[in-house]
Amino acid sequence: MTKLQWGMIGGGEGSQIGPAHRLGAGLDSLFEFSAGALDHRPEYGIDYGKRLGLGDRAYGGWQDMLEGEKKRDDRVDLVTVATPNATHFEITKAFLENGFHVLCEKPMTMTVEEGEEIVEIAKKTGNICAVNYGYTGYSLVRHMKAMIARGDIGKVRLVNAEFAHGHHADATDADNPRVRWRYDPAQAGISAQFADCGIHAMHMASFVTGQEVTKLSADTVSCIDVRTLEDDAMVNFRMDGGAVGRLWTSSVAIGRQHGLGIQVFGETGGLRWSQEHPNQLYYMPLGERLQIIERGEANLSPEGDRTTRVTIGHAEGMPLAFANIYTDLAEAISARKEGRTMDPAANLYPRAEDGLRSMAAVYAVAESGKAEGKWLDARPPMFR
Ligand code: NAI
Repeated sequence: MTKLQWGMIGGGEGSQIGPAHRLGAGLDSLFEFSAGALDHRPEYGIDYGKRLGLGDRAYGGWQDMLEGEKKRDDRVDLVTVATPNATHFEITKAFLENGFHVLCEKPMTMTVEEGEEIVEIAKKTGNICAVNYGYTGYSLVRHMKAMIARGDIGKVRLVNAEFAHGHHADATDADNPRVRWRYDPAQAGISAQFADCGIHAMHMASFVTGQEVTKLSADTVSCIDVRTLEDDAMVNFRMDGGAVGRLWTSSVAIGRQHGLGIQVFGETGGLRWSQEHPNQLYYMPLGERLQIIERGEANLSPEGDRTTRVTIGHAEGMPLAFANIYTDLAEAISARKEGRTMDPAANLYPRAEDGLRSMAAVYAVAESGKAEGKWLDARPPMFR
């Protein structure tokens, strides 16, 4: 496979998620980090980009990068958008419309209408628009999906998803500028904790079961008085294959760390996985003993095998899950370039449609929370 050219917007020096993307994209030598507009302050972005080896492809802003890359024969094959949420839509739209494939950070947009526009543009232009639900890249999450699809736990009855951490629990810290904006509707939009973390858990429920959320009822609260947006939500939902879903997300769960986990219970078995212990998948077939499936063991599914780099027993890190999103995208882009069918085990990267479904869920959670848990349609209008 020829090395693909990769560019990044956002993810500047000191950013939270930029390094995970650079590690993830570079890990398998499939992408060459070639261009970037890395910071909202042009001079910082250019300086940092040069230090990372981008030369004259270190741009001061995303518009400059778009203009510069458009003119090149060796333009970037994939652009990652890792800026704050409110800028995702215009940047993603501009790059898709100009013929670039995009991996956008979540939440993909700020509104459902913007999400529908992105899905339409991706469809019309034929360019890939992926969304970084990066935790779906974990090998055992992919194996869990394969097990459910091949019927190992029978028809799915219940999904229980969580993304509950305790890092915004200190009321005396609520006015800290790094925390405050997340709960400010002008900057965060209609939802805080659900849009930030809850959508990862909800997307994962869909990813592993292969079912989409149809309707939901939410109980949303702000445990810290000064906040106008929720810092905790309990969401009940229903899925189009008949599964019943429960989801808890929180930023005030003191003692919880990252807190992402998923349990799926079917007619003939149950499965349980947690992001803080990503190397083990707990499988309980009905009437038998509990089994612990280890990442890297023999005879996993093709999807589980394809996403294992570190041998069994050694710890696996979070950028490796992001790396699996990048290897999927490298395979998707290269298959298009070479005019061949892509490896089906790689065809798992989350799409713009997933980003849009999350936005519809964010709006439904916010409205249901205000309406005492009223059940609402959770699907975007284009998918009803
Ligand atoms: P951050 O605030 O730590 O970093 C943002 C970076 O973007 C900074 O370097 C800033 O200078 C740069 N930036 C801002 N506006 C820009 C612009 N117009 N052009 C170029 N650069 C610009 O933010 P963080 O935590 O890294 O989050 C970024 C995005 O990633 C958010 O949308 C967030 O929701 C998402 N995220 C996703 C995670 C995941 O697991 N998928 C985890 C953490 C964040």
